[in-house]
Amino acid sequence: MSQDETEQVKFWRGDFGNSYVDRNAPSHEHLRMRLSMWSRIFRYMAADMPKSILEVGPNIGLNIRAMKMLCDAEFFAVEPNAKARQVLVEEGVVSPANLQDGFAGDFTLPDVPVDLAFTAGVLIHIHHDDLLAACRNIHKSSGKYIVCNEYFSDKPEAIPYRGHGDKLFKRDYGAFWLDNFPDLKCLGYGFEWKAMTGLDNSTWWVFEKRQG
Ligand SMILES: C[S@@+](CC[C@H](N)C(=O)[O-])C[C@H]1O[C@@H](n2cnc3c(N)ncnc32)[C@H](O)[C@@H]1O
Repeated sequence: MSQDETEQVKFWRGDFGNSYVDRNAPSHEHLRMRLSMWSRIFRYMAADMPKSILEVGPNIGLNIRAMKMLCDAEFFAVEPNAKARQVLVEEGVVSPANLQDGFAGDFTLPDVPVDLAFTAGVLIHIHHDDLLAACRNIHKSSGKYIVCNEYFSDKPEAIPYRGHGDKLFKRDYGAFWLDNFPDLKCLGYGFEWKAMTGLDNSTWWVFEKRQG
């Protein structure tokens, strides 16, 4: 079932989201950090690499740009911010046919489940009350793997985000996936320690859907 557009999605569609696009750039440094992270994540899929990949909330596509150097897959994306979608198309990151204006709680793309659906820094911008509906959609969109790379906390919290309330959340997203989707098996997880990786102390999990 799809969700109404939330206060958080409206926030990302508007000026805040546009400024985020302006601050973001596909520099060598940013791409190197993502390449390093995805090289480690892909080790868990090495025996059966994904041939179709959906990113929910890619912004200007730093993950997809790095992943294209590591695997030969067809890429899909669902992104609520129009300026980010424009960059994705103009810079050839995702084809217009594979890009949807939508959000985790409400998207239809693609017609056939992809091999890997993932989020990076997106579940943290979804209110705890709306998270299950969003994850149900992501779960439905994947036929095999789900990855999430988000901020960890052992208890659900809301923290101020650049002066805004109710726009940034943390929790144990790995446990959330496993508790709510019993068909998932955790293949691995890791921590992107800022001091060593340049990434923002995020935690990632790799899940596989058990068949049958
Ligand atoms: C912090 S950025 C992360 C961008 C990208 N995933 C990365 O790792 O560089 C969050 C992105 O998610 C999008 N977004 C926010 N809420 C979303 C939602 N509920 N569903 C899908 N995308 C969302 C925003 O427009 C923005 O592009």
